[in-house]
Amino acid sequence: MEPGRFLIFMFAAGAVHSAKTSLEIIPGNGDVQLGEKAYFLCKVRAGGEATLTWTDPEDTDIEDSELYTLRHIDEQSKGLEMTLPDPQAGGIFTCKGDFESGDTATAQIKIRVVQRPKFVTTMEPTKEVVEGTSVAFDCQATGIPPPTVRWTFGNQEISKIGDGGRVSVLANGTLVVKDSQPSDAGVHTCEASIKERNETVVMVVSLNIKFTPRIELLTGDSFATPIGTPAQYNFSILAYPPPSVSIAWKGKVFKGDDIKKVAQDQDRHTYSFEVRLF
Ligand SMILES: *[C@@H]1O[C@H](CO)[C@@H](O)[C@H](O)[C@H]1NC(C)=O
Ligand SMILES: *[C@@H]1O[C@H](CO)[C@@H](O)[C@H](O)[C@H]1NC(C)=O
Ligand SMILES: *[C@@H]1O[C@H](CO)[C@@H](O)[C@H](O)[C@H]1NC(C)=O
Repeated sequence: MEPGRFLIFMFAAGAVHSAKTSLEIIPGNGDVQLGEKAYFLCKVRAGGEATLTWTDPEDTDIEDSELYTLRHIDEQSKGLEMTLPDPQAGGIFTCKGDFESGDTATAQIKIRVVQRPKFVTTMEPTKEVVEGTSVAFDCQATGIPPPTVRWTFGNQEISKIGDGGRVSVLANGTLVVKDSQPSDAGVHTCEASIKERNETVVMVVSLNIKFTPRIELLTGDSFATPIGTPAQYNFSILAYPPPSVSIAWKGKVFKGDDIKKVAQDQDRHTYSFEVRLF
């Protein structure tokens, strides 16, 4: 075999001893979840029957133990089941084959202990505070490697502390809203993700801000109409919780059917007031 082709063959086949005998380990990805059962099969790819042995990262022959269970399948394959309780328990595991022909072959797999992101703090699904007060939401997550925590509000990421903003995220992942405003109301999302494995978990909280109703006049400040002519007057009220509305004019109080609610956009309630004054 010429050198160039030999190198390519080595790369494609992993640890191959000779072209006549070879082993493979399935699956090829050695990520195992912390504390969860994982299974790897060592299999003869070429060379016939062989005695297969598995060795751990210290090069010690693996026997059945708390961490490992060997599965004797047949003369050409041997499984290794492992449950690793320690993030440091990974390393290079080797399967060695002693063939009847006297040849040997090995295959190796790099085992890495990983853990999906998981929240270790909890959140109430909704929180209600009074305008002007501060509120904080904890959001911490574990995982291997440690996940990145980010908060979003209205599809925008809330920046980490450093810019000293009114709304910010502390180094420990806690979201702080100081001097809360009606515009802070809505769904806030905490996301913990491990990018390299594309694993993400999310937790959401709906923040409600109670505030003093504000009246917005839509048709101008003054309201002049000839006596006896029906007039329409539109206005909006920003309020949470939803307001009850009445209009007083010269000792007469209008409410209910005289004031029609015509629209609502989140906390903005729009009304139309139609009246004929005598
Ligand atoms: C995060 O840090 C803030 C400020 O130091 C603290 O008040 C909060 O309790 C911390 N959160 C957690 C979950 O440790
Ligand atoms: C990551 O996961 C999301 C949701 O499961 C998927 O839509 C996306 O295509 C994935 N991205 C990559 C790079 O695998
Ligand atoms: C008040 O609102 C109603 C309903 O949206 C609309 O039809 C009407 O034209 C408005 N009137 C004025 C004076 O803006």
